[in-house]
Amino acid sequence: MVRHLYVHLPFCASRCGYCGFVVEVGALDRRDAYLDAVRVELGAERACLGALETVYLGGGTPTLMRPHRIATLLEDVAPHLAPGAEVSMEANPETVDRAAWDRYRAAGITRVSIGAQSFQPELLAVLDRRATADQVRRAVACAQEAGFASVSIDLLFGVPGQTAAQLAADIAEVAALGVDHVSWYELEIKPDTALERMGVPLPDEDWGADAYETIVAELERHGYRWYETANFARPGHECRHSLAYWEARDYLGLGVGAVSTIDGVRWRNRSALGGYLGDMASRGRPGRTEEALEDAVRRRERWMLGLRLDRPLDTVWAGPPDHPDALARLADGGLLEVSGSRVVLTRRGRFVQNAVLHQLMEFV
Ligand SMILES: C[S@@+](CC[C@H](N)C(=O)[O-])C[C@H]1O[C@@H](n2cnc3c(N)ncnc32)[C@H](O)[C@@H]1O
Ligand code: SF4
Repeated sequence: MVRHLYVHLPFCASRCGYCGFVVEVGALDRRDAYLDAVRVELGAERACLGALETVYLGGGTPTLMRPHRIATLLEDVAPHLAPGAEVSMEANPETVDRAAWDRYRAAGITRVSIGAQSFQPELLAVLDRRATADQVRRAVACAQEAGFASVSIDLLFGVPGQTAAQLAADIAEVAALGVDHVSWYELEIKPDTALERMGVPLPDEDWGADAYETIVAELERHGYRWYETANFARPGHECRHSLAYWEARDYLGLGVGAVSTIDGVRWRNRSALGGYLGDMASRGRPGRTEEALEDAVRRRERWMLGLRLDRPLDTVWAGPPDHPDALARLADGGLLEVSGSRVVLTRRGRFVQNAVLHQLMEFV
């Protein structure tokens, strides 16, 4: 029985230059058909749903579904929710206003994650973002007024051309807004994106490492806990849905391209919208690729995900690392701490997490 549900809502007004997600541009006329299809898929998976502790509506741009469709979807989900469930939705700033937030909240959304990416006009232009910095500020302020339990924003660092002064200005904006939660990712150049095709040079590695250290130090100074590699929260505002992924719990994913992991089996729904809608109309289930997760794969995932957190990983549950002898060496080097069966990265270790993982695990 799963306790965590993800729903993929793929529609976007345009594709941002760095985005490699499963998104559909120019297909807004298919939103109703898509909503119907996802509801059918939810019905088909009913048997595996336990009391849901978290639900996450991601995308794409879920807010392009508009409040009435989100409300219809959540009416179907509501009977499965555990008391106090977290119901998150991603939102693009230019698609929401105070009235929309009120309707999302009334529909049952408890937590919103707003895609800011930056407050610097030059960087928003490099990223092909539609929202201006002012729209981001207004979207956050209105969400705070609307009274969601948690308001989060996403930012990027390592954007081509980004300077230390621009980074400092973004940090100051985040602090001034006083959001509950911040996700601050290093920009990755994904295959088949406009940024990749343009071949724009990224800031060098040292710049990225310094930027990361600055972000962590400054957000901590402003009262955020660095609870995961790229995530920061005020007390009690950690994203419970993301924690479920990092704790390698089972989850069900609905919609085009969505991934599920249940009882050691992982499957991915087909990622073409037309194919997904066709499957749902003809046989009520999407085409999928399925993989039985071998023990070694699950063990490696538990380590890879678990060491992202600032809380210890229980190695009795996770299983041993591929190279157990590396544990003592890394502990002597001040990169991790071992206490009985529990392992956690030190602060220094967290900044070089990938290097630590490569000493502990084989990656195939
Ligand atoms: C599913 S995405 C999209 C959410 C929303 N549609 C938006 O654009 O704001 C969630 C977050 O992933 C991050 N992200 C997307 N592409 C990325 C990339 N190439 N490298 C690093 N982070 C990325 C962004 O911060 C984004 O807000
Ligand atoms: S970054 Fe967000 S808005 Fe931009 S294309 Fe990707 S999902 Fe859509």
